[in-house]
Amino acid sequence: MAYTFDFSGRSALITGAASGIGAASARWLDDNGIEKLWLIDRNGEGLDALDLSCAVEKRCGDVADETFWSGLEEEIDALDHAVVNAGIATGGEIATLAFDDWRKVMDVNLDGAFLTLRTALRKMLPAARGSIVVTASVTGLKPVPGIGGYGTSKAAVAHLARIAAAENARHGIRINAIAPGGVDTAIWDSGEDFRAATRKYGREAAIGAMGKDTPRGRFATPEELAGDIGFLLSDMAANVTGTVLTSDGGYTL
Ligand code: NAI
Repeated sequence: MAYTFDFSGRSALITGAASGIGAASARWLDDNGIEKLWLIDRNGEGLDALDLSCAVEKRCGDVADETFWSGLEEEIDALDHAVVNAGIATGGEIATLAFDDWRKVMDVNLDGAFLTLRTALRKMLPAARGSIVVTASVTGLKPVPGIGGYGTSKAAVAHLARIAAAENARHGIRINAIAPGGVDTAIWDSGEDFRAATRKYGREAAIGAMGKDTPRGRFATPEELAGDIGFLLSDMAANVTGTVLTSDGGYTL
């Protein structure tokens, strides 16, 4: 069955838009009639590579930089939607995790999400309408060993989204989080274990081997996640706020 979504006349901001889930979300919103996108990433080349038919403003910057957001707040008049999505991964058990690595992942995944969410809310509150999706992770729900910094940052952003939902429902703004399981994106390429598996077996086989651990038997595509995010952003989810939607092929079962 084909569902139709109508984002015509609307604007949206997406962080982490140069790659993976963020880029797929930009394409999904473009395909579903969005009028204008604000695309944010620290990877300018990735942003440049996105070819979309809607009006697009691309900004290269660090989501954890408050000054970047102050500048952007002066540029954006109003927003209807936001996807708070930029993130990085880090590995290592707590006993051996360097404080610097802990700080780096909190900086991007938590501070960056807070600053993005705050800007999005400030641009939605005057019109008293809007919807936001925050990209969390199943690792924020299930305590997976070896990724304490990442998992903790994702548990925190899911909670941040729920508090924002409680604060803003009366203002007509919905905030939900999505908790993906494994998705085949570039984020995996930053991990040492994954890079070693890729060198040994090839990237497709390395992703395939990890996907076999989920009941579905494979990782999701970024496009599948973009569809979930698009649904939560859309008016079809008008009664849904403060939820953390797990999209993991059964990994947490
Ligand atoms: P990705 O690596 O393809 O995309 C992440 C994007 O965020 C990149 O374009 C990167 O340049 C950007 N970014 C990173 N730090 C930034 C910063 N400080 N400022 C601005 N941009 C920054 O990875 P993916 O998978 O698309 O990640 C999107 C979100 O999904 C992340 O929050 C990630 O933690 C989350 N996620 C991903 C899963 C996966 O298996 N791929 C599973 C669960 C959650």
